[in-house]
Amino acid sequence: MVKVAPSILSADFAKLGDEIKDVEAGGADYIHVDVMDGHFVPNITIGPLIVNAVRPVTDLPLDVHLMIENPDQYIPLFAKAGADIISVHVETCPHLHRTVHLIKDAGVKAGVVLNPATPVESVRHIIQDVDLVLLMTVNPGFGGQTFIHEVLPKIRKVKEMVAKLDKDIEIEVDGGVNAETAELCIEAGADVLVAGSAVYGKTDRQKAIESIRSSR
Ligand code: DX5
Ligand code: ZN
Repeated sequence: MVKVAPSILSADFAKLGDEIKDVEAGGADYIHVDVMDGHFVPNITIGPLIVNAVRPVTDLPLDVHLMIENPDQYIPLFAKAGADIISVHVETCPHLHRTVHLIKDAGVKAGVVLNPATPVESVRHIIQDVDLVLLMTVNPGFGGQTFIHEVLPKIRKVKEMVAKLDKDIEIEVDGGVNAETAELCIEAGADVLVAGSAVYGKTDRQKAIESIRSSR
């Protein structure tokens, strides 16, 4: 069964703890935390302080998506704050192997993220070392953007790469996921679906999560 990871980017930050508990009660599998620095992406969001503050609020894994330059500088801080998974963009990591192992050495699961225009070839020589590959289906920076369909063949390609390895590597998809596009992602081989506006934009979060998960 596909996992659903609501992105708190679309939550009401004035009551973030309750917003997280609401999706946990609604059947979420991970809490997706979007970290943006105003450099790699044109938006600024949250840092390790907030991760630390929400850590005691939920038993779910905190799936931290770093959209920041120089992630190596901040990985230890996010690990200490309570991240369970830390994912870095290949576009920000000239020494990707070092960065992935920095995450793992901190005792955290490691993910690599590809922007829509970044070829899957860029993770061929690191995929055996990671726990998760995250394929962006929007250009990162904001919630509520339109799903880029051209990424679907990349999901299939990564699925093939993972199938050749005897490892438990999850394929996650992020951006513009709703009940309709979720079906396409699941068909292509996604294991985890991030959804921001499609969950937090609805009043009944349980229903929203179920409609994404059971979209086929
Ligand atoms: C985009 C973020 C996403 C975003 C998804 O930069 O990485 O996680 O919150 O939001 P929706 O689901 O609304 O596209
Ligand atoms: Zn994200």
